Amino acid sequence: MMARPKQQSLDLSAYTIPTHVAIIMDGNGRWAKRRGLPRQAGHRAGAENLRRIISACVEFDIKILTIYAFSTENWGRPESEVRGLMKIFARVLDQEIYDLDAQGVCLHHLGDLTGVDPTLQEKVRRAIELTKNNNKLILNVAFNYGGRAEILHAVREMLADGITPGELTEEIFSSYLFTAGLPDPDIVVRTSGELRISNFLIWQAAYAEYYPTQAYWPDFDREELYKAIVAFNQRERRFGLVPDEE
Ligand code: FPP
Repeated sequence: MMARPKQQSLDLSAYTIPTHVAIIMDGNGRWAKRRGLPRQAGHRAGAENLRRIISACVEFDIKILTIYAFSTENWGRPESEVRGLMKIFARVLDQEIYDLDAQGVCLHHLGDLTGVDPTLQEKVRRAIELTKNNNKLILNVAFNYGGRAEILHAVREMLADGITPGELTEEIFSSYLFTAGLPDPDIVVRTSGELRISNFLIWQAAYAEYYPTQAYWPDFDREELYKAIVAFNQRERRFGLVPDEE
């Protein structure tokens, strides 16, 4: 058996832990390119890293982790890359879901499963069913997800339910999103130095702290997550109000 590498002890006792962390996992391709490897090797390294970050979230007592796994726009990537990504998602759902279940992870899906390969759809449904009673960490996987499409979907459902203009509130609107019942993200991390929101949680992240980092996703490790939490604690969240009196 391989010995586990010794983990550095990271003390978060003096900090507020964000309840909900959202991550745009970017830079798998560039991580691979820098090593002279194919893009698929970058996505595999990204999937391994996700496992580490989920464990770190459990360790740090983060309650909700939302990850952007595949956007509605990602279907436009070369067919071989899309196929490779689907293979990784299927493998994680087949093999790693048991370990996630044992860690107390409850899987949710954000997005639209119609149009996705039926076998993969079935794996997603089975994984959700298997982990539905877990309460250590909610893992929202945004897959075939787009923020504008989510809002349109919510509006269509509200119209179908006969919600009238007078009764519509932000709370009612939120309850029609894929994240219904969950608090909004406190922090949105984007790896690989990009500074865009890319149609991710555009309603829910209205007051989230945005944390861009240069690290490519496969290199965004437990210590990088720790740094993000420390930075979050240095922000002054005002929610549109004036600063506290000194
Ligand atoms: C961005 O890298 C990453 C993605 C397209 C998302 C795929 C994520 C994974 C495979 C991680 C594991 C996720 C799950 C749900 C198992 P990029 O290809 O956009 O990088 P680049 O901008 O450097 O080309």
